[in-house]
Amino acid sequence: MSHSVTVSGQDGAFPGAPDRSVLESALRANRWLPHACSQGTCGTCKIRVLCGEVDHGRPDETILSEAERASGLTLACQATPRTDLTVAPLNDVPPDGPRHPLRDHAGTVLELADIARCTRRLVVELDEPMEFSAGQYAELIVPGSVVARQYSMANPPSESRRLEFHIKRVDGGLATEGWIFGSLRPGDRIGLRGPLGQFALVRPQEEPAILVGGGTGLAPLKSIVRHALSNDLVPSIDLYHGGRGQADLYDVDFFRALEAADPRFRYHPVLSEEQWDGATGVVTDAVLDDFASCKGRSAYLCGPPAMVTAAVKALKRRRMAPRLIFKEEFTVGSAPPVMSPV
Ligand code: FES
Repeated sequence: MSHSVTVSGQDGAFPGAPDRSVLESALRANRWLPHACSQGTCGTCKIRVLCGEVDHGRPDETILSEAERASGLTLACQATPRTDLTVAPLNDVPPDGPRHPLRDHAGTVLELADIARCTRRLVVELDEPMEFSAGQYAELIVPGSVVARQYSMANPPSESRRLEFHIKRVDGGLATEGWIFGSLRPGDRIGLRGPLGQFALVRPQEEPAILVGGGTGLAPLKSIVRHALSNDLVPSIDLYHGGRGQADLYDVDFFRALEAADPRFRYHPVLSEEQWDGATGVVTDAVLDDFASCKGRSAYLCGPPAMVTAAVKALKRRRMAPRLIFKEEFTVGSAPPVMSPV
């Protein structure tokens, strides 16, 4: 039997299934709660239980301490309702964030291609369209298991039935080595759910944007580039993509052609471990070299945590306002655990 969940300050209640997290029930009812990883690893979804009881699940002590639980806090992505609830999110609900209902989807693999070192492009044609915002992610369900892995959509929201994912192989990974780099073939059926996450460029903005991606962190940035340019959401975009060598770069021709066709867009591939006729070094240093000041600009960052942390520091040093820096970090084998304005 479902319980009734009310979010303080929001109109009406939604049904909270006892076997679903409060976050999942909210998103399925098209009610927004702040979240990023949806896996209990970032803490973005922390809520205060004002009334009622939850099962906290098994949250990591470093993300939700015993003392926090005792004081009435819980993680919306881990907690399930035991009674009717009234809750209040600790983080602000971004007024201009993405707002799309979470849904289960099924689709057919259209394309599966090696595009860079240990990296594949997976294109799925969905049976039904998925509404999402540029920058969000979906969870792919590994067949024959309850395991789901998170990957950002690389296509713009206008292509709501044809989803593109960039997937890095993980040694011994159940989803990658055992499936996407193993048994998966074009024509196979696939299950997924989405959209999730709040890393997104949704509304028009006055500030030119600097996008910095490492490895397959390029995926949500590609979606943002295509969506923002075709809807005239930003005055200009500088996209930096970092890799160790040329074997790690992909979609180079696509971005070079876009740069040639659209004066608002500039593409900067950067290699950290190989000399070539382009930029070399750490990708964030390339940003510093190009911009004496980042004041009045915004940034969207996606990649390994060390790269994202370095980029945040570099941009602040160049006087970018913290409220205009948006970051999504991913660990190897999954997509994003953290997204927030800095
Ligand atoms: S801990 Fe719940 S969204 Fe990250």
